[in-house]
Amino acid sequence: MPITSVKPRVDARRSTGVDQLDVVLTGGVVPGSATLLGGEPGIGKSTLLLQTAGAMGSSGRSVLYVAAEESIEQVHERAERLGALSESVLITAANDVDTVASEMRRIGPDVVIVDSIQTITDQSNTGAAGSVTQVRDCANRLVREARRTGAALMLVGHVTKEGSLAGPRVLEHVVDTVLTFEGDRHHALRFLRAVKHRFGSTRSLGVFEMTGDGLVGVADPSRLFLADRVPGVAGSVVVPIIDGNRPMMVELQALVVKSSLASPRRVAQGFDSRRLALILAVLERHAGVLLGDHDVYVSVVGGVKVTEPGADLAVAIAIVSSSMGIGVPAEIVACGEVGLGGEIRQVSEIDRRLNEASRIGFESVVVPAKSPQVPEGLKVLRAATVLETLERTKLIDSDPFR
Ligand code: TYD
Ligand code: MG
Repeated sequence: MPITSVKPRVDARRSTGVDQLDVVLTGGVVPGSATLLGGEPGIGKSTLLLQTAGAMGSSGRSVLYVAAEESIEQVHERAERLGALSESVLITAANDVDTVASEMRRIGPDVVIVDSIQTITDQSNTGAAGSVTQVRDCANRLVREARRTGAALMLVGHVTKEGSLAGPRVLEHVVDTVLTFEGDRHHALRFLRAVKHRFGSTRSLGVFEMTGDGLVGVADPSRLFLADRVPGVAGSVVVPIIDGNRPMMVELQALVVKSSLASPRRVAQGFDSRRLALILAVLERHAGVLLGDHDVYVSVVGGVKVTEPGADLAVAIAIVSSSMGIGVPAEIVACGEVGLGGEIRQVSEIDRRLNEASRIGFESVVVPAKSPQVPEGLKVLRAATVLETLERTKLIDSDPFR
């Protein structure tokens, strides 16, 4: 038939009752679909889905929770603590795929949560529990059952530290949506992203804080990231980044100290160490900042990972600020990509970044020379090169004869 005659299906998305999860799922779960939630052990996958079960249950959805990994008593206790108890949530300790499938058919729940797919087994399969064939076969079976019964299936999949996805990788083709739950276990922040999503954009980011009462959505991450900042300290610069479609202000710190090592340390935390090397080379060649006998540490505060080049300029400024022992004025933010010629290149969506900066109360911005109009009320320094930035922010002396 002509593609134009296809009747659009009514969007039957169901809210999960967890705001930040809905954001990433672009509205909620779709009946008959399958979602995989991957992440390292201990990051909070069970907590997130138990809270989801509770929220959906209390809004009248029927939920089947398959506790294949923990005992039902343990899950009950945690649900009680999280305030996620609901009559509409049915729990089973079954870890045999046939039993789970037949329960799905018998009960016909709106949502089925399986924690985790690695502990579900198929009796007729000779592979060990958690092996690739077991995981793939069981997942296929449950996905088929979800399609047939119209249940929204949510599977937990563990990912090991080394990023080897024993299981989840082979599942990516089987499911409609793959979510990853990340964060530094020593920090409370957790980031939820979609790496595959058949029903919407994968650009949304969910931000949570792990608290004593479970996961709490963070609607305003910028304020949280900047909460502990000591403004005006040498080596500290704030940069507006865009992560998963969401503008956020993060603090970058640099520390430059005299080294006693033959090959001085370059340590980057939350930032690409190759980009750090590149920025140091540009500083040396194009701004005369020689740090060959200094250790250089760069860190992004709060366990955040900055992967975009838009943070380059802020890193450069932070390094020089630290090495000179001169603080950058607290109300300044900087963004721009640093090129090998020492030039500052444009970054995407500068207007959204600067609006966020202005919302948080920053007054001055350093941006690439050719940036479009900046929001009203912000003082702007348009710089074409790293050298110009450093001179005009008085971090290094300008030499009229250079
Ligand atoms: P969990 O959801 O069990 O992780 P996963 O299923 O991904 O392995 O959560 C693990 C950690 O979260 C655990 O170490 C304790 C912490 N946590 C809290 O800080 N607050 C809470 O309310 C809960 C339930 C867990
Ligand atoms: Mg778990």
